[in-house]
Parts: sequence; structure tokens; C-alpha cells
Amino acid sequence: MKQVLKFPDNFFWGAATSSFQVEGNIENMDWAKAAREGKVPLIGRACDHYNRFEQDFDLAKSLGHNCHRFSVEWARIEPEEGKFDEKEIEHYRSVLKALRVRGMEPFITLWHFTLPLWFSESGGFESRKDAPEIFARYSGYVAEKLGDLCTHFSTINEALPYVSNGWRRGTWPPFKKWPLIDLIGVPSYTNSKEAKEEISIKNFFAYFKVLRRLGQAHNAAYDAIKKVRPKAEVGIVSHIIFFHSNNNPINKLIAKIMNWHFNHHFLGHVARKCDTLGLNYYIHKKFGDSRKYEKTDMNWDVYPEGIEGALIMLKRYKTPIYICEAGVADATDKIRAEYIKGLVIGTHRAIQDGVDVRGFMYWSLLDNYELAHGYTKRFGLIQVDFETQQRTVRPSAYVYKEICELNAIALT
Ligand code: BGC
Repeated sequence: MKQVLKFPDNFFWGAATSSFQVEGNIENMDWAKAAREGKVPLIGRACDHYNRFEQDFDLAKSLGHNCHRFSVEWARIEPEEGKFDEKEIEHYRSVLKALRVRGMEPFITLWHFTLPLWFSESGGFESRKDAPEIFARYSGYVAEKLGDLCTHFSTINEALPYVSNGWRRGTWPPFKKWPLIDLIGVPSYTNSKEAKEEISIKNFFAYFKVLRRLGQAHNAAYDAIKKVRPKAEVGIVSHIIFFHSNNNPINKLIAKIMNWHFNHHFLGHVARKCDTLGLNYYIHKKFGDSRKYEKTDMNWDVYPEGIEGALIMLKRYKTPIYICEAGVADATDKIRAEYIKGLVIGTHRAIQDGVDVRGFMYWSLLDNYELAHGYTKRFGLIQVDFETQQRTVRPSAYVYKEICELNAIALT
């Protein structure tokens, strides 16, 4: 007989996107400027999701999704410092209504990597002392305008990858890099060779400064959102790398230190002001491991089961958890279905272990602009032809659909 792993009632199943990776034609932000300068690939029209969101949500609905995570673009909403654009708010209200009409619960992320140009060029999180207040003002504004249509808000997507790529490895704006960092074997979130980095020891200190300001920004934004929408559920999204090891005590210690810095250090500063936590899982690193892993198109180990350990790491914060991203770059769709099953089984195990997981959002609904890799990496449940904008549902999306509709996974 088939064993069926059942998920809790009212579990959310869906997929995620972020504004600049799918919407298209956002020119007044730092990544677009970097692209114009040839430091990262051009973004252009992306998936034209800004105009095609209804069609995309129809597909998501037809694939059994009952929720959807997306981000609102700060540069659209606040194109000049302190000046907010009501037309863009109206746009995002239409997006939210389109989800609601389809019976899909919306999850909004307020900031997913891209900064309005006025903010990045006046110093951004590195040099503006008032950055936390600026971010809180923007967050409060959005929550006030959209909070009648959405209760789930996340402030920041992935503080650690943001500072690591921006101030340690120099692969994302503002392309700052520590001297000698390439000699240290810490796992990188991205592998672009195209960036023009500025190498300086000062970036070591800036890295920690930005991290601290992001923590302050989250805490201030939490208060600003709660002030206007006391019932909103406010959290932050963390990229958790699951560091583990063999039985060697030195390797165990290294894994512990890495987990502390990459996963817990920042969270420790913001967890008090989190009603929920978002988990993004892609990477693990096992010290003292000789196993040869199959690789994804990102050259990351195929290790979906690591999501269990990543979730267990968050148990100590005693808040409900949403998996806000987990997925695989797999252009040929050869491994995606099994990878998704591995993620879902790992999530189920974590729930059995007492982790309060409330939802799972696959990354990503659509193929999209994969950061410093441009359009070369394909994470989508839905394949996108970027010339014609044609959407084609991948076979693995139907495997996921069955899980979503059953609210369970049947083991074969
Ligand atoms: C980011 C996404 C990105 C994905 C795959 C996550 O860390 O939030 O923006 O596309 O990883 O690399």
C-alpha cells in the first residue's frame, strides 16, 4: 500500500517571484543601472509579468496553488525620496485582487534586493544613517495602502546574500569585495565572473555595517507596519544554508560556527520583531564529506532533503514558518519533479519533528532574471520564451500540482 504523508489543514501551497526578476521595464533602480553599465546582464522586459499577471495567476491557479508570494518594487512606489506614486499602488492593488479572486492567499515582500536610484546613489544602507527610518516609512506606507487586501508581509528578502554578494564577493551592486576572499572556501550564493568589483579592506567593515542597518531597518519597519495595520503578520525572509558535518569534532565545530554566522547571527537581532519567519533553502555544505553530488544548473548540490535540517534550525525562534523559496535551476526539467518531492518529504519530516511550518512556495512560478546570471538559469514551474513571452507548463509542475491538491505526498 502507498504511504501518504499528509500536511496540516489549511497549509499553503504555491510559488514565488520577485518584482525585478519578472515584471520588466523597471529602470530607476540600482540593478538596472548596473546592467546599463555592463556589470550585470540586461533585465529589459523580463517576463512582462507587470502586464501579464492575470494570465500567470490563471496558470498558477490551474496548477493547484492556493497562495502566491511576490514583491512590490520600491523604486516604482517611491520613485523620488518621500514621493509616493498612487498609480503604482493601484497596480499592486490590482495584483492583490487578481490573487484574491482566484482564491490565492497573497504574501508580500517589501524589498527583494533592488534599491531605488535616489536611495542607492545617496548612500543606501551603507552610508545613510537614516536608512532604517526611510525603509520604515516606505514599509508603513505600503502596508497602509495594501493591508486591507493582504495580511502576510515580509520586510527584507535575504539580508545575508545581499551583503555577501554586494560587500564581500562583489558580484551584485554595489560590487564591493574583500581582498583575498576568493581564497577562502566559503560557499557563494552566485558565481558571476562579470562583475567589476572594488576591492578594499574597508568593505570588510562595511559588510557588518550594512548587516546591522538591515537589522535596524527590519525592526523599524515592523513597528511602522504594526502602527497602521496592527493585525498584519510581519516577518523577514532568511536564506538558510544548512551547514553540517561528519563526526569529526573539528568539522562539527566549523559547521557550528558557519551556522552561527550565516544563519543565526542576523536573525538574533530581528527575531523579537517577527510574527513569522520565511525560509529560503537552496544550499547545504557538509564538512568532511566525500560524497559526489549530482549538480543543479547553478552547480549546487542536488540535496533537497537538507530542507529538513534548515527548518529545524529555525525551530528555536518559536514562530510559525513559511517556506518562501525552495527550488531548482533545471532547464531540461529532468530533476525538478524528484527535487520537489525531496523538498516536500523533508518539510514533512520537519513538521513531524515539531517545526511549525505553515506553507511552501516553490521558487519560481516562472523562469526569470536570475540575478547576475541573467536569463540563463531556469527555475520555473513554467517555462518562459523571453522572445515571444510564451508560457509553457513544465511536466514537473503537474507533479507539484498533485501534491498541492492532495495537501499530501503519496510515496511510491
Ligand atoms: C533569491 C532569488 C533567486 C534565487 C535563486 C534566492 O536566494 O531570493 O531572488 O532568484 O535565490 O538563486
